[in-house]
Amino acid sequence: MIDTVRWKETGEKGSLVPGKLRMIDQTRLPNELTYIETDQAEEIYDAIKRLVVRGAPAIGCAAALGLGAVLQNSKASNRKDFVAELKRTSDYFSSSRPTAVNLFWALNRCVSKILESSEENIKRLKLILVNEGISILEEDIQMCRSIGEHGLSLIKDGFGILTHCNAGALATGDFGTALSPIYLAHEKGLKVKVYSDETRPLLQGSRLTAWELHRAGIDVTTICDNMAAQVMKEKKINLVITGADRIAANGDSANKIGTYGVAILAKYHDIPFYIAAPSSTIDMKTKEGSAIPIEQRNGDEIRKINNKYSAPEKVNVYNPAFDVVPNDLISGIITEKGILRKPFLTSIENSLNNS
Ligand code: MRU
Repeated sequence: MIDTVRWKETGEKGSLVPGKLRMIDQTRLPNELTYIETDQAEEIYDAIKRLVVRGAPAIGCAAALGLGAVLQNSKASNRKDFVAELKRTSDYFSSSRPTAVNLFWALNRCVSKILESSEENIKRLKLILVNEGISILEEDIQMCRSIGEHGLSLIKDGFGILTHCNAGALATGDFGTALSPIYLAHEKGLKVKVYSDETRPLLQGSRLTAWELHRAGIDVTTICDNMAAQVMKEKKINLVITGADRIAANGDSANKIGTYGVAILAKYHDIPFYIAAPSSTIDMKTKEGSAIPIEQRNGDEIRKINNKYSAPEKVNVYNPAFDVVPNDLISGIITEKGILRKPFLTSIENSLNNS
């Protein structure tokens, strides 16, 4: 178990409030496993923005627990002021990163929980909020486990599996989405060989995916992003699984920059390409991929390696953090409810209606 995002009680045992949001500082991996504990809104915003905590479901969990941590310090003396402070903090967290829909989903869920309760007592409102964050985290862990169970059916003994970025325990409450079927296959004694794309520019594949799989004793090989085609040509890959940051109603899926290229390569080499994500990553309000907002990040992430310029200091760079895989390149979407198949417009809608 990797405790990526947790609620840390700081008061009497079992009291829930007061407490803090506790997160692994992923910017320091794989060299150091360190944690950040905070109840400060600016630190939580900064942690999401700087990718201290990252991966769509983990961002949602951190924001939800973060609301509980920040609002427990509220000095509001009545419900109206408490709700206003909650909405302000939620809007602030919403502005940290634009693409992963789980962030907005989790924040909306926490705010709605308070709006729907008629509670006037501030201490009890704080408790409801913290409990909602903890439920979101616990449900995420469950959903990831179920994704693993459904995804396991796609894996055969001896498979080579390619993944991009990190959609593992470090990106979720635990187990991951794309990596969950791999953990389960390993648990069941199936031999799998995972190829982890390095994932430039921030190296989530080599720093994070390789770290967590290696730690779990799973056979993992890191490759540079530009090697995926060759590895496929050499017939080392039987299956590609990646996560998603937002899935549109028609199945178009945004994920880490480079995923689109991997999907095209998989199609060319006739290798099944699957997306793994919980239902909280599906955004029915976004009809198709072109409407998904793509985060643009600071150019120095590309210009610098290890804090030193590896490109001219003033050179233009383009640094979109995500791209969108069109639905026709996707063999299936593994969710906690099962594997959704084409036409995704119908299968996604049916799966959300059968909750
Ligand atoms: O920029 P990041 O590291 O937050 O991007 C993460 C990804 O693209 C993951 O693949 C995605 O969030 C799915 S995580 C289960």
